[in-house]
Amino acid sequence: GKDGYRHYMEKELHEHPVVIGQTLQRLIDPATRRVVLPDLPFDLASVPRAVVTACGSAFYAGMIGRYWLEGIARLPVDIDVASEMRYRDPPLTPGGLGLLISQSGETADTLAALRGMRARQQHIVSVLNVEQSTIARESDVVLGTVAGPEISVASTKAFTAQLSVLACLAIAAGRLRGTVSAEREQEMVAALLDLPSRASEVFDQAPAIREMAAVVANARDVLYLGRGSSFPVALEGALKLKEVSYIHAEAYAAGEMKHGPISLIDQTVPIVATVPSGPLFEKTVSNLQEARARGGRLLVFTDTKGAERLRGLAEIVVAIPTVDEFTSPVLQTIPVQMLAYEVALLKGTDVDQPRNLAKSVTVE
Ligand code: F6R
Repeated sequence: GKDGYRHYMEKELHEHPVVIGQTLQRLIDPATRRVVLPDLPFDLASVPRAVVTACGSAFYAGMIGRYWLEGIARLPVDIDVASEMRYRDPPLTPGGLGLLISQSGETADTLAALRGMRARQQHIVSVLNVEQSTIARESDVVLGTVAGPEISVASTKAFTAQLSVLACLAIAAGRLRGTVSAEREQEMVAALLDLPSRASEVFDQAPAIREMAAVVANARDVLYLGRGSSFPVALEGALKLKEVSYIHAEAYAAGEMKHGPISLIDQTVPIVATVPSGPLFEKTVSNLQEARARGGRLLVFTDTKGAERLRGLAEIVVAIPTVDEFTSPVLQTIPVQMLAYEVALLKGTDVDQPRNLAKSVTVE
C-alpha cells in the first residue's frame, strides 16, 4: 500500500534515504569502510574503456556515472542512449566493459545494446533493480540496486540507488587502477555513508519546493540548467516534470545557453537551475546572471554553502545540506524530483499513471 502517502510517487520519494543506505550496505564493508564489489570474472584494472548505455532516467544516472568513472578512476567512457547504441557500430576493443543500467531489467533497447556489446566481446556488468530479469540473465555480473519495487511509473528512488552503485564502482575501479589512494577511498566512503541522513533532511525543504511548484505549474515551458554532474540532474528534473505534469521542459548544460536557448528567456519561461557549491559554482552563477538580465525568473536548487550567494539573484532558493562535491548529484536529484511531484499535484494529473507511459518498455 501507500503507507498513508497520497501517491506511490510520494511514498517512493520518501524512500530515497533508506534505499541509498541499503544499496551502499551491500557494497561497503562497515569494518574496513572500503568498497567491496562481488567477484568479477575479469580485471577492472585492465579494461581499456567502458561503454555505458541505458534509457530515460537510467541513462541520466549513467551520465553521472561517466563523470565518476572518468574523474575518479580515469577510465575512458563512451555513453549513449540504448536506442542509439544498439544501431551504432562502435569499434570496441575486446575485453572492455559494457555497463548497462536498468530499473526493470526488461527494457528492450537496453537488452539489444547488451547483446551488441556481447557480440563485440565486452564484459557485461549491469546495474539492476529487478535481479531476476532478462538483462540479469544475460549479464556477467549484476550489481543490485536495493530500491525495492517501484510502483509509480515515473522512476524516483531507483535513480539514487543506481548512483550509489555507480559511485562504488568508480571507487573500486579507481583503487584497482591506482587513481584512488586508501585515504581518499576512506573519505569517499564516508561521504557516501553520510548520504542517507543528509537525504532525510532534504524533505525539510518541502515548503520552498511547493513555492517553486506554484511558479512552474503556471508555465507552459520550463528550462532546466546544470553544469558538470549537475547537468544530468537537470535532465532528470526536466524529464520528470514532462512525465507527471505534462509541462514542456528542456534541460541544457548551463554553458550551452548562450548558443541558442537564451533566446527563449523571458518572464514566462521559468529557469530551474541546480547549482551546488563546488568548482563549477561561479561559472553557473554567471550563466544565471545572464538569464536574469534577460528577465528570466530563477528558481534555484543549491546547498547551504551556495545559498547566500544566490539569494540576491534568484526568486526562490532551495538549499539542501552541503555534502562532498562528489556525492552532491545524488542529493540534488531528490528536490528536483519532488518539484515535479508538487507540480503534478497542482495540475491534478494522474501522478502514478501518466498518460502514454508504461513502467517497463519491452518493445522497441
Ligand atoms: C523515467 C522513467 C523512464 C525509465 C526508462 C528506463 O521516470 O521511468 O525514463 O527510466 O524507461 O527503464 P529501466 O530503468 O527499467 O530500463
